[in-house]
Amino acid sequence: MKIISIINLKGGVAKTISSINIAYTLVKEHGKKVLLIDNDKQGNTSKFFRLHGDNNDGIAELLTVRDLDIKDVIQQTQYEGLDIITANMNLLRANKEILLDVSRAQQTRLRKALAQLDDEYDYCIIDNAPDINMTVINALVASDDVLVPIKVDQFTFDGLKQLVDQIEDVREFNDNLTFRGCFITMFQKNSVNKQGSEYLFSSTDYPLFHTKIRKTVKVDETTFAGKPLLDYKKSTAGQDYRELVNEYLNM
Ligand SMILES: Nc1ncnc2c1ncn2[C@@H]1O[C@H](COP(=O)(O)OP(=O)(O)O)[C@@H](O)[C@H]1O
Ligand SMILES: [Mg+2]
Repeated sequence: MKIISIINLKGGVAKTISSINIAYTLVKEHGKKVLLIDNDKQGNTSKFFRLHGDNNDGIAELLTVRDLDIKDVIQQTQYEGLDIITANMNLLRANKEILLDVSRAQQTRLRKALAQLDDEYDYCIIDNAPDINMTVINALVASDDVLVPIKVDQFTFDGLKQLVDQIEDVREFNDNLTFRGCFITMFQKNSVNKQGSEYLFSSTDYPLFHTKIRKTVKVDETTFAGKPLLDYKKSTAGQDYRELVNEYLNM
């Protein structure tokens, strides 16, 4: 099972939308079995699939309750081949509890739990919070690859340096971790986006995917419909995620 963290220290850059659509594209276009993990207390990925609940056992319990079987926190979505581990506000408490409970390893809990699923899924996609905390560190320690959605604006690079530093720190626990690259989301044909993306493509500071995800109102619509783009009306962004996944798979 290949484990991919979708992360950016900024909010509103399409981490959640990208996690959902990359996961579903792998299922729909490539026939893969995918586990999606919501690792943000906002629980937007869980809400998207109508599986959010204040009392659901999810990622918070997996990381804090000793001897909890990971299979007991996995839920099926309405899509065959796509399962999810949900998140809710319990992640706040979980982050404190992990720090306080020094009786067992703190950074490797998710990796150990996911190791049990190695033969069950082809991919695991983790939608992370815009934060560096114990649950995000657990995700990075468990991951093979890191993908970073970015939005072209004045603040595009804010936090990227800190994120790259964090990835370096995590290598102490996981020397397998690879920063695969950034990809542009919510791309629009205007001068800011054009100039911004040209600059990004010419700069060598961070690896960048060739594929850009275009901005379309259909993405907002899918959040109301609770359907990934490829199960919704034909859209530019749906095509782009398909392209992005191909680019990733061909790396
Ligand atoms: N390609 C896109 N086109 C239009 N809107 C988008 C696109 N991608 C994301 N959005 C919208 O941007 C907002 C932030 O996306 P989200 O995935 O929740 O970001 P994050 O998880 O990084 O906070 C949401 O309202 C989402 O519907
Ligand atoms: Mg999100």
